[in-house]
Amino acid sequence: MRPALTRALEALRRGDLIGLPTETVYGLGADASNELAVRRIFAVKGRPSTHPLIVHVADLPEARRWASTFSAHAEALAAAFWPGPLTLIVPRSDRPSDAVTGGQNTVGLRVPDHPLALELLREFAGGIAAPSANRYGRVSPTTAQHVRDELGSDVAEVLDGGPCTVGVESTIVDLSGVAPRLLRPGGVPLEAIEAALHARVPLATAATDIRAPGMVASHYAPRAGLVLATRDSLEKEVTKRLAAGARVAVLAPSSEQPPTGAIHLAIPDDAEGYARALYGLLREADARGCDVIVAIRPTDSGLGLAVNDRLTRAATPRRT
Ligand code: TXA
Ligand code: MG
Repeated sequence: MRPALTRALEALRRGDLIGLPTETVYGLGADASNELAVRRIFAVKGRPSTHPLIVHVADLPEARRWASTFSAHAEALAAAFWPGPLTLIVPRSDRPSDAVTGGQNTVGLRVPDHPLALELLREFAGGIAAPSANRYGRVSPTTAQHVRDELGSDVAEVLDGGPCTVGVESTIVDLSGVAPRLLRPGGVPLEAIEAALHARVPLATAATDIRAPGMVASHYAPRAGLVLATRDSLEKEVTKRLAAGARVAVLAPSSEQPPTGAIHLAIPDDAEGYARALYGLLREADARGCDVIVAIRPTDSGLGLAVNDRLTRAATPRRT
């Protein structure tokens, strides 16, 4: 076994935190059965303890142990998308501690599609609780270096699994109620979920699901302000801010020509490429000292829904 993998396993077993690569974003992982270790996640992230964590497992049989019931819908979605960027909210068994579930009677489960994460999970033979490895409310990390930059010595080991291939967090489907609901758009397109269930899956509203912090209005935020634009409004939005003396970054396909003076951070033309590049470019705009980021919205289909969700939350004014 690779030395880093061995060190990560040892860290988990003694209750320390690790940086965990997945296909979506890097996670801040702890042994999901170790209450103290799980509490350290909340302390390091600065996250309210009532916000539940996703438990990552190696396969479907292990997932079933963390659930009290696995409905036909859960079986169908797990069969279609695991390993993959999908989290299922299901009734919990007595395995997850209250620290993981935030005291709720449900648990979020996911089998990540990343070779290193799966090897670690198989060796660990348990569950790894892991939120995204960023401080609360900040941009999620998509490389091992992002995790080291942001969390430093708060993590015992950062497993480097390369840049994340999906780039936005998992899709979360709540299967604990009467009908399936979408809690967070993410790496599996909503269209694919609905096709697998042969049903419409409506988006849950913030009012009823305030415990999913991804649903708090302002989230995933870079330091720079963020403004959403269309291809038509791009020039006006950028020119206005340049004229006011702001340092402006533009997130737009390379085919666009932002006004002179703006920093063009080129995004791929397709929504998958946009998702993969998004968080890294938001960090880059911050690193280059930009005051404002003007971002072009993709259409809402496929991964565009998740990209727009993150852009909208990052654009919501913060109180700080
Ligand atoms: O792609 C991902 O999902 C990444 C990687 C590391 O797996 N993880 C991630 O975790 O994004 P986090 O904690 O940043 O977001 C997980 C979301 C939160 O909004 C949380 O409230 C929600 O999942 N969640 C977890 N368990 C839940 C439950 N039992 N009921 C409702 N929401 C839950
Ligand atoms: Mg997060």
